[in-house]
Amino acid sequence: MINEDFLNDPYPAYHALRAEGALHWSPEFCGGAWLLTGHADVASVLRDPRFSVRRAGGWANSSGPGAVTELREFKRIFSRSLLFVDAPQHTRLRQVMNAGFKPVALQELAPQIQVIVDRLLDEVLAKAGPTAAGQCAEFVQFDFMRDFARPLPALVIASMLGIAAEDRSDFVAWSDDIAAFIGSPTPTLEIARAAQVSLIAMNEYFRQLLPQRRAALGDDLMSQLIRAEASGGIITTKELLAQCCTLLFAGHETTRNLLGNGMLALLQHPQQWQALQATPSLLPSALKELLRFDSPVQYTGRRLKVDVEMHGQLMKKGDLVIPLIGAANRDPAKYTDPDRLDIQRNEGAHLSFGYGPHVCIGATLTYLEAEIAMRSVMQRLPQLRLASSTQSWGVNAVYRSLNALPLQFAHPAPAVKPSVVEAAYV
Ligand code: HEM
Repeated sequence: MINEDFLNDPYPAYHALRAEGALHWSPEFCGGAWLLTGHADVASVLRDPRFSVRRAGGWANSSGPGAVTELREFKRIFSRSLLFVDAPQHTRLRQVMNAGFKPVALQELAPQIQVIVDRLLDEVLAKAGPTAAGQCAEFVQFDFMRDFARPLPALVIASMLGIAAEDRSDFVAWSDDIAAFIGSPTPTLEIARAAQVSLIAMNEYFRQLLPQRRAALGDDLMSQLIRAEASGGIITTKELLAQCCTLLFAGHETTRNLLGNGMLALLQHPQQWQALQATPSLLPSALKELLRFDSPVQYTGRRLKVDVEMHGQLMKKGDLVIPLIGAANRDPAKYTDPDRLDIQRNEGAHLSFGYGPHVCIGATLTYLEAEIAMRSVMQRLPQLRLASSTQSWGVNAVYRSLNALPLQFAHPAPAVKPSVVEAAYV
């Protein structure tokens, strides 16, 4: 199923799978897995406690003989992550983490996001060169992924955790290695080894930072986790480190692809793009639709704690189940004309942030960040257009991502700089 055609456009494959039935056993996928395409089925599995998130060991198994022992450390660190623990451990960790994602915490972050966005756009405009008075506008090219969508989420997470923005190139490289492993249905041992080396480096980065951070606590999320660690062991040091790694990884492998995939979809649908530019108050609704239309996370995984029967088939205890989020978001039983982009669509929740107890903790932050980013891009880069009619997609099947997105804008641009944060999500 996962070949170049799928990576370029997975949606025809999902529709073909759906036409064959609601539940499929694939012997190849991650060494054998059940695939689910329906919106109702995916939502139901994601909230069902019989489907466990404890699957860090499964990846090790799928990387070939010898991998289980060799990937011990990867498994050890990630088996404490919010993403990969079930209740009651999950409930306890989630309560601690929730503190950093409350509206009041995000409210404080919003001006910082605006500053980061402004700085990145300043750099894009500076590269376009100086403008003389009366100069005629010409189109200037830049790579939206490299210059904007890729660095922005890493800088925002750094700001949220209260860590040095200069280290962000390491964060991105480490996260990419981990994502390559998680996003490969048939990972090689080399991919698995690189992921482990990077996860250990990330964990070590935070471990070395701890003494300094314990001595000078602030309002950032890492400080809040340290306070929870100090107050009667609500969270252990190893758990604290695992959550920092998870945030660094989960926060930007995803958001950058919402920005990239979303911008591409809008520019490929000029009427929708024009409607949004004419009425920027449509941004919240547009972001929901962009998340549905081309989900940054295409699928997740669960492992069965007990035998479960579904659609007349018996799924056995220990089997891997893959809820295909990207397919569920294009389910015709849920959405009218699901392959059509409609930024004013109002047909219920997409599943791009998951569902149930593990629903994305960063969803509100993502909407906030994406709204500030898209609003500022619309204001500051006039007449934005695609520089190429074909795009190059990455090889990662989970994190649907563009390798590059060359765009052009008219330069000189008007000197508009958003000074107030107008995002609706704060
Ligand atoms: C476009 C942006 C994003 C998308 C599409 C996305 C998607 C998801 C999905 C699908 C899940 C559930 C996984 C599962 O059930 O197996 C999830 C969980 C999670 N996300 Fe996000 N995410 C995004 C942004 C963020 C951001 C910005 C952060 C943090 C700064 C974040 C942190 C997390 C964490 C910690 C979890 C685990 C929650 C739990 O298990 O309780 N995500 N995300």
